Amino acid sequence: MQFDKSRSLQERLRKVVPGGGHTYAKGADQFPEPCPGVIARGSGCHVWDVDGNEFIEYGMGLRSVTLGHAFPPVTAAIREVLDRGTNFTRPSELELQCAEQFLGLIQGAEMVKFTKDGSTAVSAALKLARAHTSRRLVAICADQPFFSYDDWFIATTTMDGGIPGEVHGETLRFTFNDAASLEALFIAHPQQIAAVFLEAARVAEPAPGFLQSLKTLCHEHGAVLVFDEMITGFRWNLGGAQREYGVVPDVSTYGKALANGFAVSALCGTRELMRLGSREREQDNVFLLSTTHGAESPSLAAAMATMTVYQTQPVIEHLYRQGTRLQTGLTQVASRHGLSQHFQLFGRPCNLLYGTKGSDGKPSQAFRTLFLQETIRRGLLMPSLVVSYSHSDEDIDRTISVIDEALAVYARALHDGVETYLVGRPSRTVFDRK
Ligand SMILES: Cc1ncc(COP(=O)(O)O)c(C=O)c1O
Repeated sequence: MQFDKSRSLQERLRKVVPGGGHTYAKGADQFPEPCPGVIARGSGCHVWDVDGNEFIEYGMGLRSVTLGHAFPPVTAAIREVLDRGTNFTRPSELELQCAEQFLGLIQGAEMVKFTKDGSTAVSAALKLARAHTSRRLVAICADQPFFSYDDWFIATTTMDGGIPGEVHGETLRFTFNDAASLEALFIAHPQQIAAVFLEAARVAEPAPGFLQSLKTLCHEHGAVLVFDEMITGFRWNLGGAQREYGVVPDVSTYGKALANGFAVSALCGTRELMRLGSREREQDNVFLLSTTHGAESPSLAAAMATMTVYQTQPVIEHLYRQGTRLQTGLTQVASRHGLSQHFQLFGRPCNLLYGTKGSDGKPSQAFRTLFLQETIRRGLLMPSLVVSYSHSDEDIDRTISVIDEALAVYARALHDGVETYLVGRPSRTVFDRK
């Protein structure tokens, strides 16, 4: 494969866009050097880079494209609204229809506000909780990597430049599946914690009773429980992780799976909390998600079309089915190469991740890069193993056979040294927690 055009466009991107792209996770430093640096187009689960190379992909727009690239019912819905105008002086009917359709899916949520990205929705949940409780601190689940690009979260990472000192220290951490660790925070900071944020599940499943214990603790101590459903929403279950596990939080946030890659996210929750942003009563003074582009019509049309596909077609079943097919095939292949301890899969089939370890048995970025290099070379683009409604049996079977070949190189590299096979430098992670 040649990547000449990719390389030259990436170089130009690096000069005009910090980090060479608008999302760090898409940056050149996240991938091997021989790589499709710039994508030209996508269809279903296939993408083509600017050099004309084709890939089956398993990143799917950072998990936002759950149905498939250029999925016809979604693109048709957008085309239909385009000729009717996109942004008006008063709300459009779509704002009502989309809100009603969304609330029909998320049990327990009585009101919703749409915005453009997940971070904004999650930060708005914190603002609501702070206004409701008149408290400042927030507790987040320490085992989960990302909640928001806003200061209250980014201050906990290594990329904390530009964040005022007083913000550091307002975000506390508890441990997943350890309700006692949250209780200890409530005891150490009495009447100070406004909200508790977590993904109801990520890689590990919640232990029986864990989520309910968090809810009970939050309510005993007067804090707001927030489920970040950015990933679990519409993947674990059409009603989100809250329906899957039967624990309804006070507030929850959705994004990625909501509009098949179009920019729509949602903050939803009880009327009691959400109406603080309604301006109907004296105390309703929360400036809650009010932006120029907050409800432009094409994205809401995309969200409605996406939700309709979820409601009328077996999307979630398909994600589980294809994820399981992939998981079963890859587990067998890894074992055949003697790599069961080195190339490992994690998470639910609807949201699989993989981990790479070196010969010392420790997580290895160099081996991750080698795996990416060898799969890219053979027509796969897989920063994770996330399937969509467009991944067919044929795509999955081809993927398994390609990974079989890539793991043969991996096994040789364990023996000969990864540098023998790796072209260029290892990739990086975006950041670690401090
Ligand atoms: C769990 C979780 N919450 C929030 C976000 C932030 O969403 P966005 O990138 O749309 O701002 C992400 C993004 O990766 C996420 O995975």
